[in-house]
Amino acid sequence: MSNYHIKHLEEYYQVYRKSVRNPENFWEEIAEEHFVWRKKWDTVLEWNFSKPEIKWFKGAKLNITENCIDRHLLTKGDKTAILFEPNNPDEPAKHITYKELHQQVNKFANVLKSQGIKKGDRVCIYLPMIPELTFSVLACARIGAIHSVVFAGFSATALATRINDSECKMIITSDGSYRGTKTIDLKSIVDEALENTPCIETALVVKRTNSEISMKKGRDKWLQPLIDEASNSCEPEIMNAEDPLFILYTSGSTGMPKGMLHTTAGYMVYTAYTFKNVFQYRDNDVYWCTADIGWITGHSYIVYGPLANGATTVMFEGVPSYPDFGRFWEIVEKHKITQFYTAPTAIRALAKEKLDYVDKYDLSSLKVLGTVGEPINEEAWHWYNDNIGKKKSPIVDTWWQTETGGIMITPIPFATPTKPTYATLPFPGIQPALMDENGEEIKGNQVDGKLCIKFPWPAIARTIWGNHQRYKETYFSAFENCYFTGDGALRDEVGYYRITGRVDDVIIVSGHNLGTAPIEDAINEHPAVAESAIVGFPHNIKGNALYGYVILKETGESRNQNNLRKEINQIITEHIGPIAKLDKIQFTKGLPKTRSGKIMRRILRKIAAKDTSNLGDTSTLLNPEIVEDIIKNVL
Ligand code: WTA
Repeated sequence: MSNYHIKHLEEYYQVYRKSVRNPENFWEEIAEEHFVWRKKWDTVLEWNFSKPEIKWFKGAKLNITENCIDRHLLTKGDKTAILFEPNNPDEPAKHITYKELHQQVNKFANVLKSQGIKKGDRVCIYLPMIPELTFSVLACARIGAIHSVVFAGFSATALATRINDSECKMIITSDGSYRGTKTIDLKSIVDEALENTPCIETALVVKRTNSEISMKKGRDKWLQPLIDEASNSCEPEIMNAEDPLFILYTSGSTGMPKGMLHTTAGYMVYTAYTFKNVFQYRDNDVYWCTADIGWITGHSYIVYGPLANGATTVMFEGVPSYPDFGRFWEIVEKHKITQFYTAPTAIRALAKEKLDYVDKYDLSSLKVLGTVGEPINEEAWHWYNDNIGKKKSPIVDTWWQTETGGIMITPIPFATPTKPTYATLPFPGIQPALMDENGEEIKGNQVDGKLCIKFPWPAIARTIWGNHQRYKETYFSAFENCYFTGDGALRDEVGYYRITGRVDDVIIVSGHNLGTAPIEDAINEHPAVAESAIVGFPHNIKGNALYGYVILKETGESRNQNNLRKEINQIITEHIGPIAKLDKIQFTKGLPKTRSGKIMRRILRKIAAKDTSNLGDTSTLLNPEIVEDIIKNVL
């Protein structure tokens, strides 16, 4: 029996038990059977969560692009690898076959080499969702360069911070990008960022919008002429299993974004195996994940997981509301999508529009629906199930993280009975645990606690780029010998998990992780601001929205408050990006603080959520009187 494709619940339990009884054997069998290795491993797993150090398939040699492209050429050379759907529905879709993908990636890889990029160099990719984004990711992997994709909605400051943190030598970008009716001048954002990034030697520019842009002599080069000249054959760099594949930044509770480092072999094995099982991908399926490749979901489940399986994966350049709210469903009908994977925030936004937008289209090709990024509420789950899946396509509510590299808790469609708002059961190889306040594991069912993972899985991030100490403190110090996720969860009577949300200062807004600290730092740069605190509050489309409590300096008190609000959001947009703008800003004279000076965010969260019935004991605060004042003026 191949354990590659789980088909019913009994089989899930069998595979799961095996994966836990002997994880090394389990992963070794999968690695043996389904991938191309230049050399096999000496050991399957070496690990130590207290160092922490994790090594999968040590001694093995491979190149991930050989697994994602070359090995499909003989049997699937003419199959569509990437199906590109442009922002403008009148622009024809592009079907890029595995043969074409091979050529493009090889040429691109040769261009990188000709520009001096070598194994281990970091390359920043700041591109819209166009095929060149996937080509550039794979071209880096082809030659062993480490890609660091930065979501093209981040501001110049945020981009520069990420470039400098990992000392990228090159940036790949485009003249502009299309999003709905808007054309965004991407290159000028890059120009601004590159004023403060001494490590960047070259900027390669893809032509997409034909906008007028400035090209800095010696630094900026159009990609196309270089591609035209490049040879279409580039031998893959033979990588060690634990050689870095990419860095991807994610927000932390405090401080700088964390550059999560993923390595080659384990990440490949895990994303490919989860993709195949979680989406039950079959040969002629057309799979579509609506995420952006700037996030981990795009890395693992638009690029690497699908391509390692020889799948057809859709890249959509646009937005769900353009030209109207039927766009997703139009695309499903047009390309006969079989698996559709999106975020709860998108579902909620579409669910509030007329059903006509859905009913106009034939969605009968759909077999599996997925969600990711934040808890899905019951109402959205049912809307998705009733109107999109027509109650026949199982919904896989997949819980995972940038740090986990791949899906961790999820139903297996047609095997695991689904339950609204529950991510259900751990994927084979994943050993979750719920912890109490004292760091003890809570056994049994119908319990809730902090979610940890007790045993390594192949795609776990190996470190934070340049800061192993922070990696240790963030993930391996809260609970002994466990990876701590930062999420809370409950386990129901049959052992299904429901993720209840973050238990730290990360706030998930429309599926994007935002740390409070960088936003507060940005606000505090406003000359009229003395101090600020950000919390999340429930929002019926975004899941959470941001609420800011701001203390003004004396000089700011006479200013027009609405103007100040606009200026504060402008600063946030410049420092981070529009995704971090505040929905509400309340000016206050003080913030509730403990005697040691720590802001009591718990109280601020409750006030912002208008849930002040049980604020707990506030008498021990340094300034208890401020609480009443804040409640009185809540927005
Ligand atoms: C949250 C996205 C509930 C969670 C792949 C996690 C979820 C954070 C789910 C990671 C889900 C993700 N149900 N919550 N199905 N999926 N989350 O790093 O809080 O962007 O810790 O990775 O999103 O977000 P990230």
